Amino acid sequence: MDLSTVFGVSTRIPCLHSSPRARSNITENVAIEGRNLSFSFATRQGKFFPILKDCSLRVPSGQLWMLLGPNGCGKSTLLKILAGLLQPTSGTLYVTRPKSFVFQNPDHQVVMPTVEADVAFGLGKFILTEDEVRQRVSKALDDVGMSTYMQRPVQTLSGGQKQRVAIAGALAEACKVLLLDELTTFLDQNDQIGVIKAVKNSLVASDEITALWVTHRLEELKYADGAFYMENGRVVKVGDGSSIMDFINARQASYFNQTNS
Ligand SMILES: Nc1ncnc2c1ncn2[C@@H]1O[C@H](COP(=O)(O)OP(=O)(O)OP(=O)(O)O)[C@@H](O)[C@H]1O
Ligand SMILES: [Mg+2]
Repeated sequence: MDLSTVFGVSTRIPCLHSSPRARSNITENVAIEGRNLSFSFATRQGKFFPILKDCSLRVPSGQLWMLLGPNGCGKSTLLKILAGLLQPTSGTLYVTRPKSFVFQNPDHQVVMPTVEADVAFGLGKFILTEDEVRQRVSKALDDVGMSTYMQRPVQTLSGGQKQRVAIAGALAEACKVLLLDELTTFLDQNDQIGVIKAVKNSLVASDEITALWVTHRLEELKYADGAFYMENGRVVKVGDGSSIMDFINARQASYFNQTNS
């Protein structure tokens, strides 16, 4: 395939660029840091409805951290603020760039007919030879375990395979931070494990990549280097995967005890 045909068109979410605010106070090995982030939506009546309240979080470079919490607690809003898609009402943030946001629905982010063309798609904005494009595409697909699917039509892939192609697109663009919002929600167990292993493997392949992974699935915590738990717009617990799992299980047990008493 002539990869030059995929250049010049750009609808994929580009790598996002963060503000250097607060960078001067951050130690070098931190890839994501938010301090006292708050966010409110304005109602039509001009009232402010608080969504995030004083959230602070820090993710060291090269690690996979997870963000969990009940529906509506503010996980996606916090991730969008870190991605630069929403502006916080107050607080400061630093996110290493380039960064890429991958959405829950894989059909919203794979745009080209074949896997190879889709991963090459975002490279059109760089000045690269065709060989360099091929190398980047091939390495990125290798990192997510999809190199044998290079010529496959995207619409024939499973949901998890499409997610892996979307992640490969971000890796090919040399994104340093991956912000991943509930990629495994609609996937069966095989696809779920495939996607999470692809992310983990990408971090192993390049110790410069950091990922923040939003999920509802507790079993994924075993792949995490650390995790945050949110409730009602606040980050209420930070710890390693097993301590967050214990915390959530205790929370759920106490909720069931209350509702059954
Ligand atoms: N555009 C919007 N206008 C008003 N309120 C919004 C908007 N987007 C989100 N919210 C509200 O902000 C709160 C947090 O939403 P958010 O999507 O961040 O939660 P979440 O933790 O990602 O939930 P889920 O687990 O269901 O994905 C919710 O109460 C939601 O209704
Ligand atoms: Mg969400």
